Amino acid sequence: MTEKVLLLGSGELGKKLTFAYQELGRQVIAVGHYADAPAMQVADGFEVADMTDSMMLDAIVKKHQPDYIVPETEEIHSECLKIYEQQGMTVTPSAKANELATNRKAMRHLAAKVLKLRTPNYLYASNLDELIFCVKRIGLPCVVKSLTSSSGKGQSLIRESTDIEVAWNAASRESPEHSRVMVEQYIPFESEITLLTITQKEGPTLFCPPIGHRQARGDYQESWQPAMIKPDQLQLAQKMAQKITWALGGAGLWGVEFFLTEDRVYFSEVGPRPHDTGLVTLAGTQNLDQFQLHAMATLGLPIPEISLEKAGASAVILTESSDTRPVYSGLDEARKVPQTDVRIFGKPLTRPYRRMGVALAYGEPEDDMEVIRDRAQEAASKVKVK
Ligand SMILES: Nc1ncnc2c1ncn2[C@@H]1O[C@H](COP(=O)(O)OP(=O)(O)OP(=O)(O)O)[C@@H](O)[C@H]1O
Ligand SMILES: [Mg+2]
Repeated sequence: MTEKVLLLGSGELGKKLTFAYQELGRQVIAVGHYADAPAMQVADGFEVADMTDSMMLDAIVKKHQPDYIVPETEEIHSECLKIYEQQGMTVTPSAKANELATNRKAMRHLAAKVLKLRTPNYLYASNLDELIFCVKRIGLPCVVKSLTSSSGKGQSLIRESTDIEVAWNAASRESPEHSRVMVEQYIPFESEITLLTITQKEGPTLFCPPIGHRQARGDYQESWQPAMIKPDQLQLAQKMAQKITWALGGAGLWGVEFFLTEDRVYFSEVGPRPHDTGLVTLAGTQNLDQFQLHAMATLGLPIPEISLEKAGASAVILTESSDTRPVYSGLDEARKVPQTDVRIFGKPLTRPYRRMGVALAYGEPEDDMEVIRDRAQEAASKVKVK
């Protein structure tokens, strides 16, 4: 019988993952919290559900009896994933990895205290007075983050002490029961990278060429591959990525995030699934894109090698309007930018700053990356979403 993949999360990364599993002969049931989500449009079946609700999730798992459960979002009841794993289903890469990815405190403890990876200094605060105390100890500027959220939600930079109260309100609102927030040393990095790391069922851990990226409002704006970083820093980042993915366990592709300064490599965080900055691999930068790699690794198929084929860049296509059915224009103009491609995700509704698509640009590995990045930006800027 055809093996069945239950994809938990149906965004743009899920859509590409769906194709990747289908092209490997598997059936995909896509689950998402709203109807007509990108992955649902192409999957073999779909369910609309709140995946943080254990009863809803149980009912879906019971109905579909999947061979593989592939989380594509953090908003999943993580206790349930552990139970499914105990029942013999494969949760990719592992239930533990998904649980810790939703818990900044537990993940940081594993990285900094257990594995002794270099991370920014950090402390936790449970109320405004504690936050004031922590900011004094960490020093200004510093970053305040909620313990559970992603995509920069609830995150703020404290430049001076008058920013503390606003930061507390923003981060604690995103934390469960307004409990705790993390205060982190601000790293004035020269660059930040994602190291896509692949752990295999059998076979060595593999690394993709590093991806450079730029964020705004804590959210991804553009990325490029390969990022030119010092060979010793790359080696160090690979070692750190190997340690953390090994500790979390299982097979799959991981997005491991680092901050690089002149002489240091800081581990920031890790996601146990394809990464938004990894959309750049759709520009044909590698022999296999991040979605194919995740699908192959999670199914236990051997990956012979990862090779750099091109230099590439991606730039997000955002919208400013809200709650309307998107209408795209300028695609013809974007097509005129040489060596580029535009991918629209097919989200049913707009929302301010919502990522609706991505522009990709490519060139030869020896080409000037600035020029390739400019082409991706130019193509993205031509596309308007109303
Ligand atoms: N300590 C720091 N020093 C400097 N910049 C930081 C720091 N922490 C976060 N940032 C900036 O904010 C971005 C988002 O931070 P982080 O990855 O921790 O948030 P997140 O909410 O988990 O976001 P995502 O889920 O999109 O990765 C980082 O990629 C980086 O650009
Ligand atoms: Mg991040």
